[in-house]
Amino acid sequence: MPQTYETLLLEKRDRVALITINRPDKRNALNIKTREEGAALLDELRNDASVGVVVFTGAGDKAFIAGADIGEFAGRTSITQRDVMMSRSLFTAIDGFPKPVIAMVNGYCLGGGCELALACDIRIASETASFGQPEINLGIIPGGGGTQRLTRLVGEGKAMELILTGEIIDAQTAFGIGLVNHVVPADQLEARTMEIAKRISEKSPIALQLAKEAVKLASRSNLDEGLRREVDLFALCFSTEDKDEGVSAFLEKRKPAFKGR
Ligand code: COA
Repeated sequence: MPQTYETLLLEKRDRVALITINRPDKRNALNIKTREEGAALLDELRNDASVGVVVFTGAGDKAFIAGADIGEFAGRTSITQRDVMMSRSLFTAIDGFPKPVIAMVNGYCLGGGCELALACDIRIASETASFGQPEINLGIIPGGGGTQRLTRLVGEGKAMELILTGEIIDAQTAFGIGLVNHVVPADQLEARTMEIAKRISEKSPIALQLAKEAVKLASRSNLDEGLRREVDLFALCFSTEDKDEGVSAFLEKRKPAFKGR
């Protein structure tokens, strides 16, 4: 029987799993429970062959995720905090998830919320969304990948400015610096995101996994190593039925039906 979650909602539409962080009265702030449940749910979806793509969003119309739950910071020691972050890293789980993960950003996307979006593969924002790493205002720094993933995505100058000032930027500005892939009117956010997710979910699951792995190598290895491993991953596709199906479908002028084998 599927697990039930206290802080998350799960809805499956065709091959897309929509995960909603469901703490709207706390602007969907990430507490320990949410992080644990998020990681557990991803474990569940990892082996679910009926799911090809995962979408994360936040409940309500105000926030995607307003950051880590600041209430939990009070009274925490360095060691406890380190343990929480290392043992319950939802962001690492998203980053290493073998299927594409999309952030559907519907409002405040701050601190740990921005870091969760950064761990996703694609970010789609509503015009009303806003982004920032405001940790500096609390006398701390981003600790869920913000200093690393944001810098790799938008470059050191822009990342440095956002992190040092704690400034919150609107969706268009986020688009301008490459932080989000698309900005759409709020009433079209879900439809546009689902359209992109559905299109991706129809591809070969194996090719998607290998493509994600290969693209991530670009910022984690040197060029020679990345190019060499890209060839290995490319060659691996030649051992799959999906490659035979994709090539045959093209030659026979029909739509491929990938099976993930
Ligand atoms: N952690 C814990 N609780 C949070 C939270 C967070 N990151 N962000 C919002 N909340 C809670 C508020 O404490 C408030 O709870 P209450 O109703 O019990 O008092 C509730 O969510 C609504 O927040 P409020 O500030 O009234 O909503 P708003 O719409 O006016 O403002 C924000 C929204 C996101 C701008 C504002 O809440 C904020 O600045 N949050 C903190 C953002 C942040 O610093 N994130 C980085 C954390 S490391």
